[in-house]
Amino acid sequence: MKISENIYNIGVNDYKTDLFEGQYSVPNGMAYNSYVIIDEKIAVLDTVDARFGDEWLEKLKKLLGARKPDYLVVLHMEPDHSANILNFSKEFPSAQIVGNAKTFVMIAEYFGCDFAERRVVVNENDTLRLGGHALKFIFAPMVHWPEVMVAYEEEERVLFSADAFGKFGALDASEGWDDEARRYYIGIVGKYGVQVQGLFKKLANMPLDVICPLHGPVLKEEIPHCLDLYNRWSCYLPEADGVMIAYASVYGNTRSAAELLKSMLEGKGVKDVAIYDLARSDRALCVAEAFKYSKIVLATTTYNGDIFPAMREFLDWLTERNFQNRTVALIENGSWAPVASRTVLKRLEKCKNLTFAENSVTIRAALNDDSRAKLAALADELAR
Ligand code: FEO
Repeated sequence: MKISENIYNIGVNDYKTDLFEGQYSVPNGMAYNSYVIIDEKIAVLDTVDARFGDEWLEKLKKLLGARKPDYLVVLHMEPDHSANILNFSKEFPSAQIVGNAKTFVMIAEYFGCDFAERRVVVNENDTLRLGGHALKFIFAPMVHWPEVMVAYEEEERVLFSADAFGKFGALDASEGWDDEARRYYIGIVGKYGVQVQGLFKKLANMPLDVICPLHGPVLKEEIPHCLDLYNRWSCYLPEADGVMIAYASVYGNTRSAAELLKSMLEGKGVKDVAIYDLARSDRALCVAEAFKYSKIVLATTTYNGDIFPAMREFLDWLTERNFQNRTVALIENGSWAPVASRTVLKRLEKCKNLTFAENSVTIRAALNDDSRAKLAALADELAR
């Protein structure tokens, strides 16, 4: 795929993976991008997942014809991008491997060699000149691993952004950017908002005409929109003034309460209300939705003196990703000893800047007039 006169993507689409990184469902596949800059020197930026090495090398050889690459630039060592470093090095023995000091420690760990005879170790703000094009390296630790760096090509104002600005989905999937980029970002990089903000500060004076991420489409005219969303996500600010209701229900009584609250909120004019059964919905989607909305209602049954497992795991995912800056409301259910709300509060106590609704609801087994009235009061409060 041609990006400009001298820049190409020779990445691959993956429809084989059921769970990306062992836990994220990817119903529309996954893309592993790999970029090539052709100038007086030729640089390849990152490889692809292990299972696609042959396809990727064939694409590279076809693109270059009689020429050979001079450099393999390694921006990120996670195996979805680094798995074919050794294969590349054998195929092109004259090419040099470019990375930072941490990159080569990881290369040695993964491949048992550190390319001492043919490596170029770069420092922050070093430039690799290819001819008219030049790559400036900016370190981006924990976006999403410690060795990550991005590369800025000054001639065409292109940012090779590693995992940043990536999304789930193969390149030929017909879907918008926002939802699958949000699910990807919150799930995989969400914990590291501070580090993403740190990268933004370093990029502040660099004009961006093109962003080339390692997953998902190349971004051009949509860059301001994507930057705005990334800024919100990494500052943990909500995107939508609405309510997400997340529930875990054993026999349907907690579900009935969640659904009744949804209809009450809509009856009071709240336009954006999303509801998810945590036991039956994609976990990463639920977590991304929790970060999208300004208010969240957690409705769960009491279970073994704790909370239902689907809610417990959901809260683990939220807290692991530094969930903060939201309004939270609680609905608990318990036939003989409801303790769910107390348990949820305990699990959220390390989250920063959560505002808890004044109204909370306790259901004893099934909804009755009293708990319906409490739901109505909660709906009033959330709709204000
Ligand atoms: Fe796509 Fe952090 O690897």
